[in-house]
Amino acid sequence: MTTATPVSLNEAVLNEALSGLTASPKVLSPWLFYDERGSELFEAITDLPEYYLTRTERALFATHADDILREFLTPGAPASQSFHSHDTFTIAELGAGSATKTGLLLQAATRLQPNLLYQPIDVSASALEAAENLALTIPGLNVHAQVANYVTEPYTLQHPCTSGNGNGNGHQHGPRSRVLALYIGSSIGNFSPEEAQAILHRLRSHLQPGDALLLGADLAPSAHKPISTILSAYDDAAGVTAAFNLNILTRLNRDLDADFNLDAFSHRARWNANESRIEMHLESLIPQTVHIAGQRIPFAQFETIHTENSHKFTDEALNDLLTRSGFTPTRTFHDPTRSFALTLAHTL
Ligand code: AVI
Repeated sequence: MTTATPVSLNEAVLNEALSGLTASPKVLSPWLFYDERGSELFEAITDLPEYYLTRTERALFATHADDILREFLTPGAPASQSFHSHDTFTIAELGAGSATKTGLLLQAATRLQPNLLYQPIDVSASALEAAENLALTIPGLNVHAQVANYVTEPYTLQHPCTSGNGNGNGHQHGPRSRVLALYIGSSIGNFSPEEAQAILHRLRSHLQPGDALLLGADLAPSAHKPISTILSAYDDAAGVTAAFNLNILTRLNRDLDADFNLDAFSHRARWNANESRIEMHLESLIPQTVHIAGQRIPFAQFETIHTENSHKFTDEALNDLLTRSGFTPTRTFHDPTRSFALTLAHTL
C-alpha cells in the first residue's frame, strides 16, 4: 500500500469547523462524517431497506459485469458476438472503500484475464485492507492499493507494459494495458457540479486513449421513482441516517473539545428540486451558543448546519458532465426501475 504525505487531520477538522460554522448559512463538509463511527454508520446505511442505492448498484454489477467488460474492450460490439479481446487491462477505483461491489466485476474480469491488476485508491487505509483481501478470495487478482484523498492529493494510475506476458508487470516494452477506472456508489453526487467536473477531468488526465470510466450515479425522481423514495433513503425509520448526521457533532466534541448538546439538534433531509439534490441538515431546536476552540458559535432556533448534498442526475446530465470532463459516453446500464445508472465512457 502506498501513502500520500499526511496532513494534520485535527488541523483540517478545526479549519473546516471554524470556517463552516462562522459562515452564513452554516455548513460543514461531508468528509467530516467519516471517522471510525461514521464509517460504521455509513456501512449500516448501505444495508437499510430504504437505502436502495447500494443494492441496486450491486444488482447492476451482478447482472451486467460481463456486458460492461465487453463494452469496455470492444465498444459497440453486439452482445451476441462471441467475445474475445487481445488487449490486456487493469481496473482502478477512486474511493474504493472496502470494494465489496467491485468484487463482482473483478471476478468477471479474472475470468477474461487471469492475473488482473486492481488499483484501489481511498483515503481510508483500513477500508483498503479489506480491498487488498479480495486477492485472497479471487484467484489471479493482484491488488496495488494507494491511500490518498483523490480530491485533494496526488494519485497515480499504472498502465503496465505487457509485452504479451499477460500479467502486465515488469516489462518495459510492448503495448500498454488499458485502464478501466471505476467511480461508483454515487459518490460523485456529494460534490458540487464544478467539483464533480474537476474530479472527472483530473481522472481523465491520468487516462490514455482506449481507457474508460465506469461512473455509478443515483438518478433523479421520475414516474417510477417518486421523491418520497429518495427522501426515505436519507431519513430511514430506524434513525441510522440521523445518527450518521449527528455523529459529525460528536466528532467535533471529541476532536475539538466542542460542547454541542446532541439533544438540541435534529436531523433533517430535504429535497431541493432546483438543484436536483437531497440536502442533509442539522437543525438547532432551540436558541443556543456552542463553543469551539475558544470561539462562540450562536444558533437561532430552527437555524441549520448544512452537512451534505447528494445530487440526483438525469442520464442527459450525466452524459453532459462526462463530455465536459473529456469523456465520450458509450453506454448506460440501468436497473428495471431506472433508479440508478452505471455509465461507461471512453477516452478517445
Ligand atoms: C457516500 N454517498 C454516496 C452517500 C449518499 O447517498 O450521498 C452518503 C450518504 N449520506 C446519507 N446517506 C448516505
